[in-house]
Amino acid sequence: MDRSLIVTTVPKPSDSEILHAENLAKELQADYVKRTSTVRKMQETHGVRKVLVAGERLTLHAGDQKLFFHPSMAVVRVKRMLLGDTDVIVEKSGLARGDSVLDCTLGMGADAIVFSHAVGKEGVVIGIEYNPILVILVREGLKTWRSGVPEVDEAMRRVQVVTGSHLGYMRNLPDRSIDVVYFDPMFRETVKESINFDPIRILSVTDELSVEAIGEAKRIARKSVVLKERMYSGEFQRLGFPQPYQRSSSFTYSVISIQGEESP
Ligand SMILES: C[S@@+](CC[C@H](N)C(=O)[O-])C[C@H]1O[C@@H](n2cnc3c(N)ncnc32)[C@H](O)[C@@H]1O
Repeated sequence: MDRSLIVTTVPKPSDSEILHAENLAKELQADYVKRTSTVRKMQETHGVRKVLVAGERLTLHAGDQKLFFHPSMAVVRVKRMLLGDTDVIVEKSGLARGDSVLDCTLGMGADAIVFSHAVGKEGVVIGIEYNPILVILVREGLKTWRSGVPEVDEAMRRVQVVTGSHLGYMRNLPDRSIDVVYFDPMFRETVKESINFDPIRILSVTDELSVEAIGEAKRIARKSVVLKERMYSGEFQRLGFPQPYQRSSSFTYSVISIQGEESP
């Protein structure tokens, strides 16, 4: 039972919003509480920081912060691809139409949406997210968000969301079963400062990526394993990725290319 969270609805909810909130509470093993006052009052009365509010837009209140699904840069990135540009991760990973992608750090799913557009209807994108509240926000958002761009909405609807740890998930996959495996872990050194600007950091798991996870990724990948990181964090070296060189930009990508390698 999660005692740090309650689930409720918007004021004057419809029957379906109540049912939705009750089901989410069950899934999260948290209490459903009928909406009787402001979220702030409910936080005080029930002694919780986190209140998940079901309504037209599913919103998590965590202390003073609000978190809800938004595709963020994915819309711009897909629009650029529609105009003929290539997306940097798509290009570096060697991803093609019909491929499969395992996004090991789904977060709010922006990268997964871009992958999903790149692989198209014939491809598969599976996103794994450890935090169960984030899973619900992203899963519901991907199902319902309307961006105004049909190709973005179609890409969002096709992303498959899995709850859990990427390491456990990968251990159950056969050798060479996924084309591209992708990691975008939290930048740990900035967690404290940016929590006020980036509410996703309230929920995100910030553990460092394990060498074992990269080993599993190399075992299951057919084309490439891609890591997004800060250039000089030392993570590329620690995890056995080629060190990229780039002057600007706070983060960059490095790729372990699998093609041509023997099955482990
Ligand atoms: C920087 S965010 C990813 C952002 C994402 N690429 C996007 O475009 O929205 C990293 C996410 O990975 C999740 N995460 C961290 N460790 C994980 C693990 N072992 N298994 C699954 N998810 C994990 C965190 O909870 C966090 O939501």
